Amino acid sequence: MKNTFYLNISTSDALGIGLFKYSLYPQEKFIIINSTLAQILGYLSKADLKKETLSNLFLNLTDRDAFFQMLRKEGKVKFFETLFRTKDLKSIWVAITAFKITAGNKHEYLEGIIENISSHKDTEESLSIERNFLQSVVDNIPDAIYFKDYLNRITKVNSFYARGIGLSSEEIIGKTDFDFFPNEQAKQMFEDDNQILRTGQPIIGKIEHTLLPNGTWNQAITTKIPIFDQKGKIIGTMGITRDITAYANLEKERRVMLINALKVLGKALEMRDPYTFSHTRHVANIAQRIGKALNWGEDRLLGIQLAGELHDLGKIGIPLDILNKPGTLSDLEYLLIQEHVKKCYDLIKDIQFPFPLAETIYQHHERLDGSGYPRKLNKNNILLEARILAVSDVLEAVTHYRPYREALGLAKAQEELIQGRGSKYDETIVDIATNLIKENAGEPFWVND
Ligand SMILES: [Fe+2]
Ligand SMILES: [Fe+2]
Repeated sequence: MKNTFYLNISTSDALGIGLFKYSLYPQEKFIIINSTLAQILGYLSKADLKKETLSNLFLNLTDRDAFFQMLRKEGKVKFFETLFRTKDLKSIWVAITAFKITAGNKHEYLEGIIENISSHKDTEESLSIERNFLQSVVDNIPDAIYFKDYLNRITKVNSFYARGIGLSSEEIIGKTDFDFFPNEQAKQMFEDDNQILRTGQPIIGKIEHTLLPNGTWNQAITTKIPIFDQKGKIIGTMGITRDITAYANLEKERRVMLINALKVLGKALEMRDPYTFSHTRHVANIAQRIGKALNWGEDRLLGIQLAGELHDLGKIGIPLDILNKPGTLSDLEYLLIQEHVKKCYDLIKDIQFPFPLAETIYQHHERLDGSGYPRKLNKNNILLEARILAVSDVLEAVTHYRPYREALGLAKAQEELIQGRGSKYDETIVDIATNLIKENAGEPFWVND
């Protein structure tokens, strides 16, 4: 048998590939090796390596047996990855490709190549460590995480998502939101995804109400971002959704408690001064009607209602004989009454509320032209809420009886508003109030609200 190779020794050395011819039978030994193979395995010379057998180079005996078994069975082995022992007893990842040659029935040879794949293995290993780490982080996050392709089909979800849907990840992948959520919700999610794909802009912290497949509604906060390929082209989206139902319920409870506490304050005012109480209740009703005409949402309406109910709460701190004095007030008495605004502000300014409650009340006697009190704010610095409160306050106060005068009536109140329209009072709000009066045939519509 001639010692010839298709890949000759000098070419393989130039390529950095280990080359060998090995006798399997009758005696195991290297017949030919190139310098690269000796170098890969840390031997100083080819002769040095030739003292070793191939079997001895395997670090892992199971691998060694599998290699020789495959050779016996198939006659060849392709890219067999295993750890070899180097001359200085270290380990190195190699890939062996070899085939068996039988010469007559006396000799068996092996010819093949051995490549050093340790750097490739190291990268693979560190990538796999990183992948496993990321996967375990993603799976242990108590938020739903999901990836979708450019057709909004789900390509990957974490364990939390799968548990929420009640299916395995395999059952979820390839599906879309339409498979799991009611049509209307899925449509909205689909549109959001398309918007991201189209614009490349993320959607951050969107509050959603979703009906889960198990039939419960949850409130969730969702952030979705685009995913790019290496060339910067958008190829899909990634989303993370956190269930905030418990938090939202807690927040609702907190708010109810707060409102109840504030209502107790209102009651305290009523016990002390019934005039003021019916006045504040009426003002709250008017302000709410105006808010509704402005298409305000539930929260803002609740805010303006509370502001109305509490706006004169500061009168708790004003002596009753001044508050209900039948005659004209002295300058000092008038100044004292004006203080109710600041007193109320101080009472409630530290309460956290998703509405500028304290500030609205603080501003309810301010006028657009700066003629109001206590800070003589002008048009640009008065909250819309406070402008509504001002109009509602005047409408109620002028219409009804006061200890120091008879009721002047709705027509007189309306006259006052129209006179001050644009100078003292906000034009739009005055118009809304006038409309409401007209719609209710000139009756004080707020009394029975
Ligand atoms: Fe007031
Ligand atoms: Fe008032």
